[in-house]
Amino acid sequence: MMMMMKILLLSVFMLAAPAQAWLSLEDWGSGSVDGSIGDLGQCVCNVFLPDTSFPADRMEQMQSSSKQLAVEVQIHISKLSSLKVELVVLLESLSNLTARLEVLESGPDKYIKLEFELLRVELREFEALVTQIKTSLNSSSSAFDSLYAEIHSMRIIVDQLESYDRSNLEVIRHEFTKLQRKLKKCQEDQQDITNAPIGSCKHAGILKIGKPVVSQLNADLNGAFKYGGWGKDSKPLSGSESMYWYSGSSDTLVSKISQYSAYYTLITRQSFKAHLLYVDRQYDWRGAGNNYVVRENNLYYQYRSPFAMAKFNMTSAKVETKVVPKASTQFSYHYSINQNLDFAADESGLWVTYATADSNGTLVLGKINEQSFTVEEVWQTSIFKQSVTNAFMICGVLYATRSVDTHTEEIFYTYDTTKNQESHVSIRFEKFQDFYVYLDYNPADQKLYMFNNGYYVTYNLKFKVV
Ligand SMILES: *[C@@H]1O[C@H](CO)[C@@H](O)[C@H](O)[C@H]1NC(C)=O
Ligand SMILES: *[C@@H]1O[C@H](CO)[C@@H](O)[C@H](O)[C@H]1NC(C)=O
Ligand SMILES: *[C@@H]1O[C@H](CO)[C@@H](O)[C@H](O)[C@H]1NC(C)=O
Ligand SMILES: *[C@@H]1O[C@H](CO)[C@@H](O)[C@H](O)[C@H]1NC(C)=O
Repeated sequence: MMMMMKILLLSVFMLAAPAQAWLSLEDWGSGSVDGSIGDLGQCVCNVFLPDTSFPADRMEQMQSSSKQLAVEVQIHISKLSSLKVELVVLLESLSNLTARLEVLESGPDKYIKLEFELLRVELREFEALVTQIKTSLNSSSSAFDSLYAEIHSMRIIVDQLESYDRSNLEVIRHEFTKLQRKLKKCQEDQQDITNAPIGSCKHAGILKIGKPVVSQLNADLNGAFKYGGWGKDSKPLSGSESMYWYSGSSDTLVSKISQYSAYYTLITRQSFKAHLLYVDRQYDWRGAGNNYVVRENNLYYQYRSPFAMAKFNMTSAKVETKVVPKASTQFSYHYSINQNLDFAADESGLWVTYATADSNGTLVLGKINEQSFTVEEVWQTSIFKQSVTNAFMICGVLYATRSVDTHTEEIFYTYDTTKNQESHVSIRFEKFQDFYVYLDYNPADQKLYMFNNGYYVTYNLKFKVV
């Protein structure tokens, strides 16, 4: 029991870390708890930090004390280098912690003592983690310094509480509640400023792409799972708005998809359902190419054999396939093989991109009629599919990407189906790591989702105002 809670809470803390990294050093010590908005609409919180001295020697002992932690640190160093993550996760984990502390306060003393000691250990381990990352990162990062200071002061406060009585727990809870309030305010502020409302196309396309937000190594915790995808339902069924899905593998085959009730359970790897697309001697509905989308609880994907587009209804667990006229298996995207059909969903519906022999390998865009599950209209682009790294749709406009260098990706081409107009553009964005196989826009939250070398990555978008 104790062990379980410890692991759980530790992972909660590590999730919390990147979001706190958004806190900035501006107004250091002013006592302000106000939030402000960064240049990409991200939340920047101003934090009050109590004056404390740091017992470096003790922390160093701590650092070497946990081998498990060190492994996690390796994962999280790269993750934290982006210094951003969903605010909502931090809020969830904080409210979870706060709730636990509330339970404590009303519980019997013996239970309190145990929990209190646990909390101390967890905070110490977390601080050690942050210390290690701090040295691994460029220490001039003020956002990271702020995160570190926040955790450090929290730990000091807890450590200063020599006993574990109810009033002390009250103090700790107060600290968490304060932080929670700040972040909530920040989140509210953030909602006012950004883009056109969800679902609206009253904008002129992408202006800018935010920094990669690296959430987590995939749910299989397998670095060899470079092929996969993740995201949210692009048109969620009522009651499934917070659902996430994930599929991953060490090859380009698609054999399984898992569903998670919320971001929190995705990150803690507690799926509520896992669908197998292959059961030996029973059925083989496997896909290929990792360019699927989930829409109304259906997985739309490239069927492996025979080559077709497939719709796997995750509600009924039934599969349906349709041949895409003229689509070829000869032209994959630049990074990976077998990416012949790329599904995309946007404000206007469901799309599939591919190439045909007739088109000499240039990209063809098809609109899928969701009722009949057929390609009802096609557009011919002028770009060669094999030079493209991926593509996605926003408001009826196709965006195609290519690689610039190991750190940089670029949207170099758009095709507007509402005007039958193509454009060569340059919208560059930072890659987390060089290799990725999955990139899609989700109209339900206006974010890009990428499966990058086994990691879940998202990007916030800033649209041009009309
Ligand atoms: C905190 O999160 C864990 C993991 O999902 C959950 O089991 C627990 O019930 C949550 N606690 C509260 C008080 O929300
Ligand atoms: C650290 O930050 C400085 C100043 O921002 C920058 O010049 C330097 O290249 C960075 N070093 C690394 C290793 O990122
Ligand atoms: C998926 O299956 C459910 C349950 O049978 C059904 O209600 C729904 O219409 C199906 N969706 C599609 C897109 O076929
Ligand atoms: C493909 O190549 C053929 C022969 O060069 C040409 O006639 C045809 O127009 C090309 N198709 C496209 C879509 O570029």
